[in-house]
Amino acid sequence: MHCHPLSLCYPLRFCDAVMSLVPLKRRRRSEPVPGGTTSPAGTFPGVCVFLVERRMGRARRAFLTALAQGKGFSVTPEYSDAVTHVVSEQNSGSEVLMWIERQSSRPVEHGGAQGGPQFLDITWFTESMSVGRPVGVEPRHCLGVEEFPAACNKAPETLPYACQRRTPLHHHNQEITDALHVLAKAASFEGSEVRSLGFIRAASVLKSLPFRLRSAEEARGLPWCGGHCRTVIQEILEDEACREVEMVKISDQYRSMELLTGIFGVGVRTAERWYREGVRSLRDLQSIERKLTAEQRAGLRHYTDLQQPVTREEAVRAELLVKDALQRFLPEVQVTMTGGFRRGKQQGHDVDFLITHPDEGALTGLLKKAVDWLESKEPTSALLGGCPMNPPPFHYMGMLLYHQIKERSHGRRTASITMDGHETCFSIVALPNGDTERTGLDALSPEPVSPHGAGPEALASWRAVRVDLVVAAYSEYSYALLGWTGSKHFERELRRFSSHKKKMSLSSHRLYDTEQCCSLPATCEEEIFAHLGLQYLTPSDRNA
Ligand code: CTP
Ligand code: MN
Ligand code: MN
Repeated sequence: MHCHPLSLCYPLRFCDAVMSLVPLKRRRRSEPVPGGTTSPAGTFPGVCVFLVERRMGRARRAFLTALAQGKGFSVTPEYSDAVTHVVSEQNSGSEVLMWIERQSSRPVEHGGAQGGPQFLDITWFTESMSVGRPVGVEPRHCLGVEEFPAACNKAPETLPYACQRRTPLHHHNQEITDALHVLAKAASFEGSEVRSLGFIRAASVLKSLPFRLRSAEEARGLPWCGGHCRTVIQEILEDEACREVEMVKISDQYRSMELLTGIFGVGVRTAERWYREGVRSLRDLQSIERKLTAEQRAGLRHYTDLQQPVTREEAVRAELLVKDALQRFLPEVQVTMTGGFRRGKQQGHDVDFLITHPDEGALTGLLKKAVDWLESKEPTSALLGGCPMNPPPFHYMGMLLYHQIKERSHGRRTASITMDGHETCFSIVALPNGDTERTGLDALSPEPVSPHGAGPEALASWRAVRVDLVVAAYSEYSYALLGWTGSKHFERELRRFSSHKKKMSLSSHRLYDTEQCCSLPATCEEEIFAHLGLQYLTPSDRNA
């Protein structure tokens, strides 16, 4: 059997071991009844019975299966599309639906007319047994499946695109969305971007719900929340953990991939290649350091610092530093903090800045000049918010520990969405600490600091922080601001909405109407939303 190198396959023993660790109330799923066979033909073509074990019990199910098979009925031990008659005892239609979806981890159609199986009470079965053939289905046999039971709890409008909904930073379903994000990551680690996006979309829908889900059933009908997603919801609500998620989290692949992709400069593809080559730890990577890119080497060197979230207070100090460097060369330069901090996050993996000026010519070369200045500068500047510094000279590098400037491409269309044609600088800055004073001479060490444990970084009065700088033309500023505020999923949805619903192409430079063949100017973000016929969302509602 072909198996993707990163597909999450577990030996049976491993599963058992995991299950004993996971505090699930209901660990067992019903198993196929021994002796149960699928004989699609049977004596009665067009009839394939599935007996629901819930409340019926395993022994009675086995007995009824044998009885029906003895009379020539086709009874299938596992739910499949071939099933025409779902028979249950003492369950409502909704309970049956949920139970099957949970067992088979997929959405189930119901109602014979629409092509799905009929959900029947045991009376249909016993009557059929007594006459020795399937009796006609009458309304009294049928189990009703209620529509969305908690109508009062339904989101007022759960529109399909994230840019049509408010998604606040703090929401009501964090445990569930965290779990879905684990599955999204695992899918992405396996190279399955489509599946990954499915989980991200489901999580994003749940983030916008104005209430806490009390059952998986309440998620029925929400966009992107199919059977798999509802299984996750149900297990978390009932058992406080989802077995699939817990297994993923402790798997070697997931843990290694998470570690490797957590290094600045390492994407999923690189991590996957390294994983296949046996790389499991940062130590393994150090032994092949010569093969790493400069970016990855910097990521490895400052791994410990970069793992530590950047606080808002640090972001503000980074802003002072960046502004100071830029203002030296262009006093009236406008610097705006974008990314997660603009959306109201209190911490992030980096600090993002958008830079502009009405005189677009003045922006040319600005980034390079500011970067050169920072590079030549010790991280001891007195202008950093007046924080107390008592530093000996900082010899071996300036305030820039790493940087890579990418020029704006002049092509009409940039191939890479990530670059989006802006002049950008992805950097690692030595941010002086706000309160602690430099201690010891370790910070003077010309040796690269160790990514393991407390290296000189821990003693130094600075710490490495990722900073992204983006220069935008003044005329395109609103589009750049919208494009670099995120979240990433919000941006993806905004572009998808523009092209699918409005026949417009949105980038961080412009909105192009492909039918009118013209670009639509905008002087603020509100105008862009208006061009798209969308209700304006403040940055704090874009945490999709
Ligand atoms: N972005 C981009 N191209 C990149 C990197 C980021 O267009 N190569 C955009 C993203 O779409 C997002 C914004 O820049 O809108 C910020 O990205 P990022 O810093 O990765 O994420 P944040 O939302 O700021 O999250 P965090 O707080 O963890 O940094
Ligand atoms: Mn960011
Ligand atoms: Mn960023």
